[in-house]
Amino acid sequence: MYWPGLWPMHCMPVAHRPICWPQLFQRETPMIRFTLNGKDVQSVDAPDTPLLWVVRDSFKLKGSKFGCGAGLCGACTMHVDGVAVQSCVWPLARAEAKQVVTIEGLGTPSNLHPLQAVWVERSVPQCGYCQSGQIMTAAALLQNNPSPSEAEVEQAMAGNICRCGCYPRIKAAILAVAAAGAGLQPIASPSAAPPSVASVAAARNTEESV
Ligand code: FES
Ligand code: FES
Repeated sequence: MYWPGLWPMHCMPVAHRPICWPQLFQRETPMIRFTLNGKDVQSVDAPDTPLLWVVRDSFKLKGSKFGCGAGLCGACTMHVDGVAVQSCVWPLARAEAKQVVTIEGLGTPSNLHPLQAVWVERSVPQCGYCQSGQIMTAAALLQNNPSPSEAEVEQAMAGNICRCGCYPRIKAAILAVAAAGAGLQPIASPSAAPPSVASVAAARNTEESV
């Protein structure tokens, strides 16, 4: 015979379980869908989560760096629909249905983006921390303006801080790519796509690096 007071709740018929008021009013977390480095993805992170955290922690793409967290240094720069944005202050909700590209989607080790290739040739980085942001800003610049003047490069790169002071090499590398006419290159290589949503869920909360 069924006696509610003696049964554990999970054994009770659903209709007889006491109402859990917090659950009743709990809203479902919206699923936000976007394209990440050419692959369709979805995220259940809170809509106001900075895109940087979503990409680094949920999708495990660690190339974009955290510097200031206030949109002031450019270390976290990614492309959203081809525009360079500071992802540390860019809420996930604004990425809905958009194309997000990170440094991992710009090129691959066997098929470097011209900027990445010239960065290597000219040994542009010092410590390297700011460099993914520098390259992403430069790539967005060259996509919109394949032949920028020196002043235009300086203006476009002004928001990217390099504490190692690599500015002359960064500028020279961008101008070299522009002079070679190699700035306009398709991006978002599928081979640089993030792991599947299922594997993201499995990996969540299990690791942290860099
Ligand atoms: S970490 Fe995003 S601008 Fe500095
Ligand atoms: S290379 Fe070190 S911060 Fe730019």
